[in-house]
Amino acid sequence: MRKPIIVGNWKMNKTIAQTKEFVEAVDGACTDKADWGIATPYLALQTAKGAAQNLIVAAQNCHFKDSGAYTGEVSVEMLKEIGVEWVILGHSERRQYFGETDETVNAKMRQVLSNDMTPIVCVGETLEQYEAGTTKDVVKTQTVAAFKDVCPNCASRVVIAYEPVWAIGTGKTATNEIAQDVCAYIRSVVAELYGQEVADKVRIQYGGSVKPEGLKALLEQPDIDGALVGGASLKEDSYKAMIAAL
Ligand code: G3P
Repeated sequence: MRKPIIVGNWKMNKTIAQTKEFVEAVDGACTDKADWGIATPYLALQTAKGAAQNLIVAAQNCHFKDSGAYTGEVSVEMLKEIGVEWVILGHSERRQYFGETDETVNAKMRQVLSNDMTPIVCVGETLEQYEAGTTKDVVKTQTVAAFKDVCPNCASRVVIAYEPVWAIGTGKTATNEIAQDVCAYIRSVVAELYGQEVADKVRIQYGGSVKPEGLKALLEQPDIDGALVGGASLKEDSYKAMIAAL
């Protein structure tokens, strides 16, 4: 019922030239078994858009204001001007290193949605929170905060990425059972907020050390509708292996 969505989050990797090369090599291999995407650094977005026929091209952040004195920031209008309609929000690295809070994530969600763009909003617990057994409390707080004042019509378009921070770039993946359990819980939180019909439309990705060989089994979990992939999305072969795996 929900089409899987797999997005490579490139973080601060790849130049414009490397992006062009990647898109030219991978774009034609995309199948309709899933929505496939890449989130590139800002500078490479326009090149990626120009080269991509099939790949969704996403930004990794945006500002929540329309314009103004916000040195170093990029607005949604600027993204839309180059055809970029997807934005990752609230990635744990932005929360950890760049002062992103539940409040700014919510402000960005509303800005993105009100401009008819699609957010991929990230939630997930740290190792400490995982060990303390507070995973579900953490993802509930983050999810409820992210959706504050988001209308039901907009809410159903949102993609949520569950990324346990302890599994990011560490080679440690949550088991499929753990990932399913938390993703099902996140869906139940969305259902509490908006009802089951909206919750059933929202796509929920898992992210954290996803590899091509694990992708199929991951997507067989009933509440996991895709993946947000870091390291394994950077090499053409590895991205193509993900496409071939479905
Ligand atoms: O956003 C994706 C990411 O944080 C996961 O990274 O390298 O563990 O797949 P990685």
